[in-house]
Amino acid sequence: MTDKTLHQLLDERVSAALAAAGCEGAPAVITPAARPEFGDYQANGVMGAAKARKQNPRELAQQVVEKLDLAGIASKIEIAGPGFINISLDPAFLAARISAAMGREDLAVPRPAPQRVVVDYSSPNLAKEMHVGHLRSTIIGDALARVLRFLGHEVIAQNHIGDWGTQFGMLTAFLVELEQGSGTSTDTEMALSDLEDFYRRAKQRMDEDPAFADTAREYVVKLQGGDPHINMLWRRFLEVSMHHCEAVYKTLGVGLVRDDLRGESAYNDALPGIVADLQAKGLAVESQGAQVVFLDEFKNKEGEPQAYIVRKQDGGFLYSTTDLAAVRYRVDELKANRVLYVVDQRQGLHFQQLFTLARKAGYVGEAVSLEHVGFGVMLGEDNKPFKTRSGGTVKLAELLEEAVERAFVLVSEKNPDLAEEARWEIARAVGVGAVKYADLSKNRASDYVFSWSSMLAFDGNTAPYLQYAYTRSAKVLRDAADSAVADAPVILEERAEQVLALQLARFADALNAVAKDTAPHQLCAYLFELAVVFSRFYENCPVLKSEGAQRASRLQLCRLTADTIKTGLGLLGIATLEVM
Ligand code: ARG
Repeated sequence: MTDKTLHQLLDERVSAALAAAGCEGAPAVITPAARPEFGDYQANGVMGAAKARKQNPRELAQQVVEKLDLAGIASKIEIAGPGFINISLDPAFLAARISAAMGREDLAVPRPAPQRVVVDYSSPNLAKEMHVGHLRSTIIGDALARVLRFLGHEVIAQNHIGDWGTQFGMLTAFLVELEQGSGTSTDTEMALSDLEDFYRRAKQRMDEDPAFADTAREYVVKLQGGDPHINMLWRRFLEVSMHHCEAVYKTLGVGLVRDDLRGESAYNDALPGIVADLQAKGLAVESQGAQVVFLDEFKNKEGEPQAYIVRKQDGGFLYSTTDLAAVRYRVDELKANRVLYVVDQRQGLHFQQLFTLARKAGYVGEAVSLEHVGFGVMLGEDNKPFKTRSGGTVKLAELLEEAVERAFVLVSEKNPDLAEEARWEIARAVGVGAVKYADLSKNRASDYVFSWSSMLAFDGNTAPYLQYAYTRSAKVLRDAADSAVADAPVILEERAEQVLALQLARFADALNAVAKDTAPHQLCAYLFELAVVFSRFYENCPVLKSEGAQRASRLQLCRLTADTIKTGLGLLGIATLEVM
């Protein structure tokens, strides 16, 4: 019975009824009911179908309802307004549905046809330390990877780090200078412990000393030419920088590992071939000494096709060339069916051009989906891009530290009796969870304001609220200490029980929406709604004080709620706690 989600099941049945009423192929348009008095779901497709056939919509609705087979699924089907079909689900059907999910690790979520999905995320520039700009890519990508894996897809994470380019000549030159100067290797370690500072100092040397700048440029050439010594220095620098990233991943609970690394440098050898191939295909042409592709699909203000540069005048390659090589690798070698690029919205044009060109060049066939999963910027409470008080970029590591410290204060106020170590543990889960959730719960396309007070609130659509909802539902079960619960039947008599059951039964649809629209906020909205209806259930339906079959059934509802919140938060990369 659970080979289809609720939505899929209703869609299939209503579509069949539409077809039987003479509207083959008309979409059913199933949505959750806009208001409780409309039942649980509405099918809104009749109006469109009637319009297309110049038929009276209410009459068509009548014919569709006559053909609609929802036996054992719906308890009531009504026509409303101009031709809406309102559907109330049968409580026994709902009960059976959620019973099937009970106690299962996969919560009986039906698996779609598996795909191989490459997710390009985090992808920081290793010349500097990770800053708040990388937070969004890292956690949105991680949540998408987790949801897709949970749905049975094969996910290949690609951390497309910025580990190549002219800055690395400057940085390795500065490393050498430090070691050759008075500095001991401990001094170098010290200097590298703050990469922002290291970068700033190197840049300063570059600007003030032409001899240093020459060396830096020479190092770039040597690095790209494969000089072993310079390569060794470059690797050393990258290693330090990667360590900084890995510390952040660890704090964030993000699962990226070394195997997921495939940075810009990995494509270096493929770049001349890409340009040659584009030239041979007549796509790349010379323009002022550079190799350029003019794409008719993208016009500038003057109506001329925009230039997508793939090789500079000086022979150097660009970000765009590397991405062409990368997309080719992802399709040819990794055999991706779908490639997601979780990257700042501001790179939107780059990706649209990349996708168009990759298809034109024959690197990516129609069957492969290329998607730019863009996101907006994080703003400070002044509505301007998020900065430190002195106007600098905020280091991610420091932001997360502050989150945990702030959470510790709150947790200590709430639970002064808990041992300090336990309070820190809760603070780590709550603080980091709050930062992640505040980000993931917003529509990724929009900018959002980073606000400590709203993200750490124990009320509203926040991580602490959901973490607390989990702890509370789990505690009911522990307090019940009732082994008979395991297979007890679910009985849905009270409206609050039915509403909770319906929300529980919608989990799979929420995950499908996240996967389809690459929108983790839909899972957040789902979990928040679940916590709200659980809380209403808990106020209206005594659990521990009820008796017999009713008590067992209500405990089952608590159990599935706890499991669903824990699983859902887990898919967002957010921890839950048994005590908080
Ligand atoms: N390193 C880039 C940046 O920090 C992001 C790379 C995204 N991935 C890609 N394939 N272009 O902006």
